[in-house]
Amino acid sequence: MVIFKKITDLKSYLSDKRRHQKIGFVPTMGALHQGHLHLVKESMKNNLLTVVSVFVNPTQFNDIEDFNKYPNTLSTDIEQLASVKCDVLFCPSANEMYPDGFGEKVTFNIGNIDKVLEGTFRPGHFNGVCQIVDKLLKIVEPDHLFMGQKDYQQSMVVQSMLENYYKDHPVKLHVVPTVRSSSGLALSSRNERLSSTARQNALAIYNRLTWIKDNLDNMSIQDLENGAEEHLLKNGFTKIDYVAIADAKSLEPVSIYNKEVKTVILIAAFIDGVRLIDNLLVN
Ligand code: PAF
Repeated sequence: MVIFKKITDLKSYLSDKRRHQKIGFVPTMGALHQGHLHLVKESMKNNLLTVVSVFVNPTQFNDIEDFNKYPNTLSTDIEQLASVKCDVLFCPSANEMYPDGFGEKVTFNIGNIDKVLEGTFRPGHFNGVCQIVDKLLKIVEPDHLFMGQKDYQQSMVVQSMLENYYKDHPVKLHVVPTVRSSSGLALSSRNERLSSTARQNALAIYNRLTWIKDNLDNMSIQDLENGAEEHLLKNGFTKIDYVAIADAKSLEPVSIYNKEVKTVILIAAFIDGVRLIDNLLVN
């Protein structure tokens, strides 16, 4: 694996390589786990020269505490990426990515998809995600982009950004299914911050996602959402941002379940001071 810290070095390396091989890109914020490695493997399976970035992007954190607590595990990340034979790692400094500071103002117009759910609870978050993904795409210029379904709304936001801003340089987005522990917990870098009891209790999220899915035909949407919230609060969660049953294409709330309409269940809730998100596509 070749490691780059400087944009110019990475660009000149890739300009040569891209003449012979298409490029697959996996953007990450590090603290890598099997979910990330799965994205890398998906890219490599498609015979792509695979570039992973590790950069904890300050502009997407609406809570400075959350940013300060974000794990930094670069040396283990490097070992893990080398173990799956990733081709290239790009791990720039903050100054390299934001030479003019974090105050630089850019606004991405991506319709309504960034205004609901995460957009309501984390104002500015998706604009920060678009800002860094846009910078990274302009550096790496990949043909294929790999992101996890765990961040369902994020992948919709990025898809919308690609459609609106990358018409002339098409990038194909692959949304790869969430990797879960054998008990169902969605793998996440944030799980590292949970105590063992909280980690056990956190299974209630997946439990309620599947409970909602199994009862969509015989309970009302309101009762399902309320029932799931109550269950989470009884199982160690201290605050629920949302339990939402939504149209999978628009994220508009569903009022009556219709099998013909692709539907997604999404949950965001706090346990042990850590905000977890997860989702399940139901049809
Ligand atoms: O999903 C993430 O880890 C981040 O939001 C991303 C896409 C790497 C942008 O910083």
